[in-house]
Amino acid sequence: MTHNAFPKEFLWGASTSAYQVEGAAYEDGKKASQQDIINKDSYNKFGFATADIASDEYHHYKEDVALMKDMGFKAYRFSIAWSRIFPDGVGEVNPKGVEYYHNLIDELKVNNIEPIVTLYHYDCPWALVEKYGGWLNRQIVADFAYYAEYVINEFKDDIKYWTTINEQSIIVQYWTQKCYIPEELQDGKHDQMRYQLNHYMNLAHAIACNLVHRIVPNGQVGAALGYAPVYPLTSKPEDVIAAQNAQALRNDYYTDIYFKGIYNTAAMKYLEEHGLAPVIEEGDMELIASGESDFLALNYYASECAKWCNDDGIKKMCYSGVNRSGKKGDISGFETHPGFYEMCKNPLLDTTDWDWAIDPIGMEVMLRDLYNRYNKPLMITENGLGAYDILTEDQQVHDHYRIDYLSKHIAAIKRAINRGVEVIAYCPWSAVDLLSTSNGVKKRYGFIYVDRTDDDPKECKRFRKDSFYWYQNVIRTNGEKL
Ligand code: BG6
Repeated sequence: MTHNAFPKEFLWGASTSAYQVEGAAYEDGKKASQQDIINKDSYNKFGFATADIASDEYHHYKEDVALMKDMGFKAYRFSIAWSRIFPDGVGEVNPKGVEYYHNLIDELKVNNIEPIVTLYHYDCPWALVEKYGGWLNRQIVADFAYYAEYVINEFKDDIKYWTTINEQSIIVQYWTQKCYIPEELQDGKHDQMRYQLNHYMNLAHAIACNLVHRIVPNGQVGAALGYAPVYPLTSKPEDVIAAQNAQALRNDYYTDIYFKGIYNTAAMKYLEEHGLAPVIEEGDMELIASGESDFLALNYYASECAKWCNDDGIKKMCYSGVNRSGKKGDISGFETHPGFYEMCKNPLLDTTDWDWAIDPIGMEVMLRDLYNRYNKPLMITENGLGAYDILTEDQQVHDHYRIDYLSKHIAAIKRAINRGVEVIAYCPWSAVDLLSTSNGVKKRYGFIYVDRTDDDPKECKRFRKDSFYWYQNVIRTNGEKL
């Protein structure tokens, strides 16, 4: 298609999250978040880098913003580390932490880059985990509200776009990576807690939406959801129903909350039948319904595939597996709900080395479907290819595979826009290389190479990859030259 669909004010940029990029985990008053603890454990178990230094953006932010400016960014999506603002989760604010984000935001504004802030990206203050279990306890909702109100007030003059909680759907699937879950709760008998903590997040999300609307003049707010459209493995009607069930439990269960203020019926009935449904207190659904979203931010990497699974007593319920090795095919399993659906590999799609299906058309499917159903503006706040990159002796990175991946996904967005979908931003993952949530720093996503390994942080020097120059041209031509 030759028609250029991207509106003039389209927000081209990229994303990161605090614990994956900042480092300075214990500097200037910051205390641990649960990710500092989880990643220390991953270092011991798998040799993946800790979050202590990550990409050291805390000390490199000026250089990083200059590189973003050079690429032509119109936006930068990043998250605020709760434990940098409130080292103990609540109580005393940490002025140095607040100053850091003011500096970063000022630097962005001076360079005409629109900051898009995420309030929560997996990094609950460790103090709250020690105090009462973090997201496992309803007290977190009040403490999140305290943190969110402070931050929204503090930055209200500079931030128009707010995203609330990153990827509730992924937190439910991979709860031990994204939350600190004590070992005794990981036995499969406590899976109701996945949906319970998600319910607390729904309350927190609604509170944050209301706060933005109350405090920020012209503020816009929405969740950032990890989203993968689900295809049936075959056109067998049983597989089609399985895909519908998976779509309900993995996707609609979240989007119906954000836009209709209700739990999706098919998903909820399944959860109730299996003792997995969240306990909902009086007034909760009214609060949820009051938190209006202005847009939905979407993190799209892959589509998923589902097939029918009989409830024959042989197959057991389980959640998504993970590939820790980075060798294709090493995935530890697929989510299974006997009598409802079983996830599986899509035989028609190639994958990354970590078994994520590569499916640009899935982006179009997702955008078309969500816009049809909810009619709200959509932002892409993540999309990208995790890959092993090589820094050559003359300090180049020839990441043509990433260019190929991203260009096809942008073309898919363009097609969706040409079909009438309102997309307002494209912020792929990630601006700079960073610490992956599941695979250390050797799995890279950035336009900017950060010279470090899992074992050795070196100086975290920055180098422009080939994709840097390619993206610069994409932005310069407003998506015309892919
Ligand atoms: C998204 C998260 O799920 O995917 C990011 O919001 C994450 O935090 C990204 O880094 C890629 O996943 P991973 O596991 O490869 O880092």
